[in-house]
Amino acid sequence: MELFDVYPLFDIEPVKGEGSFVIDKNGQRYLDLYGGHAVISIGHSHPHYVANISSQLERLGFYSNSIQNPLQKELARKLGEISGMDNYRLFLCNSGAEANENALKLASFKTGKSKVISFKKGFHGRTSASVAVTDNPKIIAPINRRDDAVILELNNLPLVEAEIAKGDVAAVIVEGIQGIGGIHLPGVEFLKNLQKLCNENGVVLILDEIQSGYGRSGKFFAFQYAGITPDIVTTAKGMGNGFPIGGVLIGPDFEAWHGMLGTTFGGNHLACAAAIAVLDVIKSQKLVSNAATVGEYLMEELSKIKGIKEIRGIGLMIGIEFEQEVAPIRKKLLFDKKIFTGVSGAHIIRLLPPLNLKKENASLFIEKFKEVLSELDN
Ligand SMILES: Cc1ncc(COP(=O)(O)O)c(C=O)c1O
Repeated sequence: MELFDVYPLFDIEPVKGEGSFVIDKNGQRYLDLYGGHAVISIGHSHPHYVANISSQLERLGFYSNSIQNPLQKELARKLGEISGMDNYRLFLCNSGAEANENALKLASFKTGKSKVISFKKGFHGRTSASVAVTDNPKIIAPINRRDDAVILELNNLPLVEAEIAKGDVAAVIVEGIQGIGGIHLPGVEFLKNLQKLCNENGVVLILDEIQSGYGRSGKFFAFQYAGITPDIVTTAKGMGNGFPIGGVLIGPDFEAWHGMLGTTFGGNHLACAAAIAVLDVIKSQKLVSNAATVGEYLMEELSKIKGIKEIRGIGLMIGIEFEQEVAPIRKKLLFDKKIFTGVSGAHIIRLLPPLNLKKENASLFIEKFKEVLSELDN
């Protein structure tokens, strides 16, 4: 059987990971500034992570959500503590799209409405409600298309206000930092006013922290820069460091009833073991503050480089925009300098490294990046 060919692939086959590096089948090491698309939070193959998953697998890999699973409670407790969101409750699922799907469902259950406001350049996943609120018509199949998904300009409060005034809005969903759209930040004042507007009108505010959460921004969640308290927060990616897991953090105003939400695999023993190990390492190695410090260093060094149109981001979530197309830069970084980076569209290089990135490796990137830019200039 052939694979269904939906991914453009680089001709590289990683077989091993160590911290901020991956090693291919020929033994070549690559500095990973992409983190497998913002997924690797604590670094590849962290010993505590490997040990926690392995020992759990030796005891019990899976049982359904119809029994006591203290690992889910431990994960919720640790997540509440590290994020400062103790008064939220956790629903566990398997991916980012599924987390958003459940968040939107909760908003719709609560309000009895179905209209959702999202923002231009936003990405929320590829399943039905999640993709309907994603700003990319190419990936919205006719079966997903909805008339009550309204996509507005980011940071434009009057537009949101006018839409909410119609009285039929269930939720507003916004990324803590827009990732796929090219590292665009919602303004602090915009988020504060958005929360106020939602509160005053009984609209559920959902913060999609699937890419920007879990310490990547230099705070546990990026929205915490604005000091707001969203009704719902969604997470995935960095939560399991590669083990598929997603979470919905649900504020105190939502009532749960049996059967309201559900999933076969969500919150399984192995996923919880992985996610608990991730939180242990984020805490013990102070990775949130490392992301802030190394991110600041990267931004500072990048700002000294000529020929860049704009640098955006915070922590270890950085977009470097060029006038010219960036494919040659990314290719040269990968094949000549052995550094993985990501892109957003044709003009933006995206950095999403593991949160344990050391300053010396950030510095190595800057050196190689400058070399690539000057080689392409000549
Ligand atoms: C902000 C955001 N939301 C949702 C998703 C969807 O997550 P998943 O691919 O795990 O379904 C992504 C994935 O890139 C994302 O960046």
